[in-house]
Amino acid sequence: MSERKMITAALPYANGPVHIGHLAGVYVPSDVYARFQRRLGRDVAFICGSDEHGIPITIRAKKEGVTPQDIVDKYHEIIKKSFSDLGISFDEYSRTTSKKHYENSQDFFTTLYHKGKFTEELSDQYFDEQAGEFLADRYIVGTCPNCGNENAYGDQCEKCGSTLSPSELINPKSMLSGNVPVLKETKNWYLPLNDYENFLNEWIIDGHKDDWKPNVYGQVKSWLNDGLKPRAMTRDLNWGVPVPLPEADGKVLYVWFDAPIGYISFTQEWAEKNGKDWKDYWQNENSDLIHFIGKDNIVFHCIIFPAMMKAHGNYVMPKNVPAFEFLNLENDKISTSRNWAVWAHEYVEEFPGQQDVLRYALLSSAPETKDNNFTWKDFQTKNNSELVGIFGNFINRVAVLIHKYYNGVVPEGDANAAELQEIENSAKVIETFLENFEFRNALSALMNLARFGNQYLQTEEPWKTIKEHPEKTAQSLFVSAQIAVALGQLCEPFMPFTSEKLLKMFNVEKKNWNDISGVVIESGHQIDEATLLFSKIEDDVIEAQIQKLENTKQSNKKTNPNANPMKEEITYDDFSKMDLRTATILEAEKVEKADKLLKFKVDTGIDVRTVVSGIAESFTPEECVGKQVMILANLAPRKIRGIESQGMLLLTTKPDGKLTFMTPEVKVENGIEVN
Ligand code: 2FM
Ligand code: ZN
Repeated sequence: MSERKMITAALPYANGPVHIGHLAGVYVPSDVYARFQRRLGRDVAFICGSDEHGIPITIRAKKEGVTPQDIVDKYHEIIKKSFSDLGISFDEYSRTTSKKHYENSQDFFTTLYHKGKFTEELSDQYFDEQAGEFLADRYIVGTCPNCGNENAYGDQCEKCGSTLSPSELINPKSMLSGNVPVLKETKNWYLPLNDYENFLNEWIIDGHKDDWKPNVYGQVKSWLNDGLKPRAMTRDLNWGVPVPLPEADGKVLYVWFDAPIGYISFTQEWAEKNGKDWKDYWQNENSDLIHFIGKDNIVFHCIIFPAMMKAHGNYVMPKNVPAFEFLNLENDKISTSRNWAVWAHEYVEEFPGQQDVLRYALLSSAPETKDNNFTWKDFQTKNNSELVGIFGNFINRVAVLIHKYYNGVVPEGDANAAELQEIENSAKVIETFLENFEFRNALSALMNLARFGNQYLQTEEPWKTIKEHPEKTAQSLFVSAQIAVALGQLCEPFMPFTSEKLLKMFNVEKKNWNDISGVVIESGHQIDEATLLFSKIEDDVIEAQIQKLENTKQSNKKTNPNANPMKEEITYDDFSKMDLRTATILEAEKVEKADKLLKFKVDTGIDVRTVVSGIAESFTPEECVGKQVMILANLAPRKIRGIESQGMLLLTTKPDGKLTFMTPEVKVENGIEVN
């Protein structure tokens, strides 16, 4: 096993804040791992940063009506602060818009280009002539060929879940202008992934059957079984790292080309600041490269990025890619667009000083091998029963008793007591689990040591032996002090804030992991006053969080998934140009030889006029007569089947598909304005 660990955590898109799903599936486990490796004395680089290119960013910018740069500036800061508040100990947290990264990703591209690793391919892509832009898949909407959903995207139908390509959409429309896009020929640079199949098969399928997680291995195998195809590494977009070729004006690097190179660029930034050589971490066989990611990123980290690095040469391949499954919230999929999430920055504000509770709760239900679920009730139980009831309770009892009987000085005791073996055992068990990326088991092993401590106190009852057998009290509190300090040492990767408080309470420094055995605090050592490590979380606090989610659910319910997207914004002046008023239908008749048309005589309060409307499939003429309706009175007259129609009646569609008039709730005079 290598003494050098190059640890990366998936770069979060800077298009929104991070939530508990991100934390449980990538950032907390990777942080535990990095902290643990540092404690073993290994040479660790733990690198991350914001992913600031790609369609997720430009879509968000459009939604908020600002520039992509505004979006990434805003969310980069929010995300970075959340990570630091939660104790995620990145050595470097940078961003893919950094100067270094532009240079580095362009260099990488140029190297591959000069080595002849790309193929150039012409393809027809949708182009919006009005906007003068090629359209990324997400910017094209149309009717899904599978389910008829009229708002399917060029890459996916969210109603039936099918994966699509833009050319499959019926009636494609550009989301930029609403116009019908045209197909236009464009050149892009492709990495022929099929050329790397043998290498990938040998390296992963033959080489990592036993040490990679089955979910990761299985996904890679299935991709390879299906056969790989060349994949475009450049895109016709105006947001991203420009392709460094004179003939590639207006093109940028594919976000999944530039983002993983970000890991390297950020390592370079860190190395420069800290007098290190980045190549020791990326281009030296003695370095273990480990990517922490969510399961949706497997193909990029196990196939595409390795193929890129192989094409470049010199780079080490990842030693392991521990990918996590997804975390649900209260039995429902976490969703940014539905605001169904617990946001990291909100948690930090609403639970000040309780970062470790979240870390603990997320680790104990980390979606390691299958999707898992977070509930607020469970969070409360984990805090109240486990952290307060077991861990905190033990530490507190030990510190209080040592103060009560020995003025805070650790009493004399037998350093060879059998119970002390538990400390070394726990350290070893946790180590084995963590080296194997089994975070939940590692955390259980930590809690088992706290349970052991509690039971030990309960059996020894130092508060009873103090009168008749004070030497027994001294021994049991000596042993308990060892367990308490060991817990302070061992919990650091999982709960760094708690570890710091606990070690401070016992006046002890952080130790190398291998030294956590036997006596970890000497007799005669003075400890500080007992302070509480955790506090109970009351029902009303949990109820408030559940209520918050309930409110989200209610407001999501009001949103009709079938409603068409909003039309282009208008000003109040635009609106006030419309003469909308109440009117009454005086007469109605069918228009000859036109199945759909009805002809009305309408009293608008200012005149009586003729209006023709295509609503004969929803009404008989008789049922219309006498109805009070709303009319757009100043619509320019137009001839329909030779009859001049002088205005438009307002209607909407009922659930049965038939039309219904927009009618005032109570009868009013004709000619009253609607506004
Ligand atoms: O899926 C995501 O959120 C991507 N932003 C992850 C990028 S990881 C890496 F390759 F940069
Ligand atoms: Zn569909």
